[in-house]
Amino acid sequence: MQQVAVSVLGEEKLLSELGAPLPLDRLVAGNGAWEIEIGFGKGRYLLQRAAAAGSRRFLGIEMAGPYYRLARRRMERRALDNVVLIRGEALYCLAAVLPVGFATVVHVYFPDPWPKLRHHKRRLFDPETVDLVLGLLRPGGRLDFATDHLDYGQVVCRLLDSHPLTAVSVLRGLWEDGARTNYEAKYEAERRPILRLRVDWQPAGCSHGLHPEGLQGVLAATSIRTEEEEAAE
Ligand SMILES: C[S@@+](CC[C@H](N)C(=O)[O-])C[C@H]1O[C@@H](n2cnc3c(N)ncnc32)[C@H](O)[C@@H]1O
Repeated sequence: MQQVAVSVLGEEKLLSELGAPLPLDRLVAGNGAWEIEIGFGKGRYLLQRAAAAGSRRFLGIEMAGPYYRLARRRMERRALDNVVLIRGEALYCLAAVLPVGFATVVHVYFPDPWPKLRHHKRRLFDPETVDLVLGLLRPGGRLDFATDHLDYGQVVCRLLDSHPLTAVSVLRGLWEDGARTNYEAKYEAERRPILRLRVDWQPAGCSHGLHPEGLQGVLAATSIRTEEEEAAE
């Protein structure tokens, strides 16, 4: 398995050299708000946004090596010193590599829907994984999400809407800044229907809480008895 790699302008390191949780504040200068894009593909939106909002800091996670390397070259060409790129699997990075509660915005556009039942555990938005994604946000932060897989989109919408700490709005039409990513531009040109969600996290300043279905899964998993325990009965 490939090690998680972390790039900033002019430098690439392995996770083993940096340690976890990643010392993000040491990797890029400044104290601007953090925005994260999960599954940034070729990096079009992440890098455009980083160039446009120079006082903010940007973190991208992408598991496909060729896309990560392409985005890295683009980051170098544009001399963007407010970007951290991670090559790694997102759920692993959220669970084991990144700090929690530090981002102002999380962007997730056209994530792979993993339609087969046996692959559902790879989904970013499942009862057991949704808190890993939302847990990146500071109170008052926001998740922007888009998908062209409308069935999966409805599942994600219901899941986020039933979280005790979110307020979900379905956008009518495009984002205020237009089509953001390569997939979005392509699908817009094809007039493909797209579901876009804007999710406010802890909007009323409420403090904590996990998704109730995910919590049930966690409790069920932690109450599984070992063979020794069963034999001892
Ligand atoms: C359908 S593409 C969308 C790319 C980009 N967001 C866009 O809208 O143009 C999904 C991207 O997510 C990446 N991806 C899928 N699962 C991932 C995971 N578990 N961790 C990190 N990246 C992932 C894929 O490699 C791919 O680049």
